Amino acid sequence: MGNRGFRRIPYDLIGSRETGAVAVVEVPEGLSPLEVARDIMRRHSHVKSVLQKVGAREGEFRVRPLRLIAGSEDTEVIHKEYGYRLKLDPRYVYFSPREATERRLLAKQVRDGELILVMFAGVGPYAIAMAKAKEVEVLGIELNPIAARYFQENVLLNKIGHKVFPIEGDVAFVTPALYGLFDRVVMPLPKGAYLFIPYAIRALKRNGGIIHFYYWGGDDAFRRAEDMFKAEAMRMGWEATSIGFRVVSSYSPRIYKIRVDFLIKPTDIK
Ligand SMILES: C[S@@+](CC[C@H](N)C(=O)[O-])C[C@H]1O[C@@H](n2cnc3c(N)ncnc32)[C@H](O)[C@@H]1O
Repeated sequence: MGNRGFRRIPYDLIGSRETGAVAVVEVPEGLSPLEVARDIMRRHSHVKSVLQKVGAREGEFRVRPLRLIAGSEDTEVIHKEYGYRLKLDPRYVYFSPREATERRLLAKQVRDGELILVMFAGVGPYAIAMAKAKEVEVLGIELNPIAARYFQENVLLNKIGHKVFPIEGDVAFVTPALYGLFDRVVMPLPKGAYLFIPYAIRALKRNGGIIHFYYWGGDDAFRRAEDMFKAEAMRMGWEATSIGFRVVSSYSPRIYKIRVDFLIKPTDIK
């Protein structure tokens, strides 16, 4: 197949013109990975490496197996989004450049003066986007030690060490020490956040707050997310009211990553 065919193959570019970028591509069967990589590198002179997706995201760290098919072994890059920079290596951490708009939309909702918890923080994109946009303090928790290290570096890179506080650890172990502190909690783990709903609710201040809940599912994803979240909140003596809905992305036709925003209020005295 000639270059005309390659042009239709989607790929992500992570990085920047200044520091170089990596391309992450799913090579369709029957095509030569090397030819696809060469075509991408011809079109983007700043691409230093091309990584082929060789499996689905896996494990607790949600990292995708990637194979280097062309270019440099050094796949660490500095990615630029709306006014902030993120250092990372996609071979070892979760990162999706496609969620830049989602981060911007979330940052718009945040209000000056808030104390915010970002669970499942990764290399820090949500925490950093919010702290760059508003006068807030953000605490982020991340389990993958490599991602947590990049998160620390990214806080310094963006000069927001006075506003963003990364913690390496498991949300289930770290959050109980922080109960009752936050105005807002972000839960960006679509395939497992539901397991942590009680931790998120207890992390809010005693008069409640806002939780951004991510979920993954089919056409009924919004209804399932709402039902699950509200039932758990009610069981704990809180009232959850849905105040926002968004399809973040679609994995495949009819499988979506979604966000539901909940306003949480206590229904009894605790
Ligand atoms: C879907 S990724 C999202 C990362 C980041 N928020 C982003 O959007 O780039 C989920 C992240 O949660 C982390 N994680 C999974 N289970 C966790 C847990 N129990 N406690 C803390 N972090 C966890 C993974 O290592 C991964 O980095």
